[in-house]
Amino acid sequence: PTTYAPYKVKDMSLAEWGRKEIRLAEAEMPGLMSLRAEFGPSQPFKGARIAGCLHMTIQTAVLIETLQALGADVTWSSCNIFSTQDHAAAAIAAAGTAVYAWKGMTEEEFNWCIEQTLFFGEDRQPLNMILDDGGDLTNMVLNQFPEMAAGIRGVSEETTTGVLRLLERVKVGSLPFPAFNINDSVTKSKFDNKYGCKESAVDAIRRATDVMMAGKVAVVAGYGDVGKGTAASLRGAGARVIVTEIDPICALQAAMDSYEVKKMGDAIPRADIVITTTGNCDIIREEHFRALKDKAIVCNIGHFDDEIDMAWLNKNYGHTKDTVKPQVDLYNIDGKEVIILAEGRLVNLGCATGHPSFVMSASFTNQVLAQLELWKDADKYENQVYTLPKHLDEKVARLHLAKIGVELDELTPKQADYIKVPVEGPFKSDLYRY
Ligand code: NAI
Repeated sequence: PTTYAPYKVKDMSLAEWGRKEIRLAEAEMPGLMSLRAEFGPSQPFKGARIAGCLHMTIQTAVLIETLQALGADVTWSSCNIFSTQDHAAAAIAAAGTAVYAWKGMTEEEFNWCIEQTLFFGEDRQPLNMILDDGGDLTNMVLNQFPEMAAGIRGVSEETTTGVLRLLERVKVGSLPFPAFNINDSVTKSKFDNKYGCKESAVDAIRRATDVMMAGKVAVVAGYGDVGKGTAASLRGAGARVIVTEIDPICALQAAMDSYEVKKMGDAIPRADIVITTTGNCDIIREEHFRALKDKAIVCNIGHFDDEIDMAWLNKNYGHTKDTVKPQVDLYNIDGKEVIILAEGRLVNLGCATGHPSFVMSASFTNQVLAQLELWKDADKYENQVYTLPKHLDEKVARLHLAKIGVELDELTPKQADYIKVPVEGPFKSDLYRY
């Protein structure tokens, strides 16, 4: 980059409000706060220049300030054009963080923001660690600035879709440093993806539309971790939920959780609400759009905006697009109106504020532990994708028990020997599925 911008956010007058919400979030993020207490004094991240690309929310602000409290220099961008909470960005900018993020940016600005995070301070020192969500930052570095790779110790990747991209790189031999897969820590995907979406899916549809949920037919595409949480969210709000799947195991799970499981083509004419959770492309396409009821709500909670074929919709019916309010658009398909949320991008961060702090604390505690491991011991690892060892996964869970009053029993030595685990854990083999 030619010119240096110390930060770029929407409105610095929001900083005080952001700071107040960060304080409230800290109280809900015991994992991160206990890492500050445990590692703050020894400053293990001294010399680390961590570039992060992850939804710039209040919860992420607590993550960023935890990395800083452990001694890191941090730059940040958001991994989605709609997911920034402007008061969160303003608050950390006011505290001196190099953050480049605002809600409602263009694709061009999105790339500009990520690019700013590659270089630190006025003397433009290059990043030496990556913290990513979805892989856009990693891809920019490796595709556009490959010469930077040699100075980077590794990457920790937050989500299913980004992990898929990393595994693809391992396969073709284009991953030049080790990577940690945060998503597949049990305390990430079985909590954030599931219980997080259980709270944030309906929250987003309500904030966007105020539609009555009870009695409505909602179609949830995909019954993985995000699908399980999303279907539970809609059921909890009183909707009648139909699930679609391609995997017989997940389809059977959905059926035995007492959801109807149908083909998309058959379910779609009944849908009042459709939400895609697959991390796959082309889930809602022309034939489905044409089969929808008038005023059906269509949205996506997976990472990228190609689950719903927005390209087809915009090409053929873009001229009918009528914006009700930001991130809520009506399209008229030959006389029938369809309500599209967040332009097909992940709805819980586009139309609401993402997951609550408590569950993000578990995800982000995994992130900090992985960053610590990479910064300290990257040489121990090959250029492969790793998950954190189970004892750290269990540690993340343990750090979140007291806050909600959970009391654990302890194994006696006889019991531990009987089930062949150490008294202090890990308590399960790596094959255990939770
Ligand atoms: P997953 O792999 O556990 O679940 C995806 C499911 O979709 C699988 O069961 C798969 O069989 C199914 N599927 C694939 N193609 C399908 C098709 N054509 N029709 C019906 N079902 C199909 O993945 P996970 O963890 O649930 O993540 C899904 C997406 O959500 C990813 O893009 C991930 O990055 C994103 N994500 C979003 C979050 C948010 O807050 N919005 C939080 C966590 C993940």
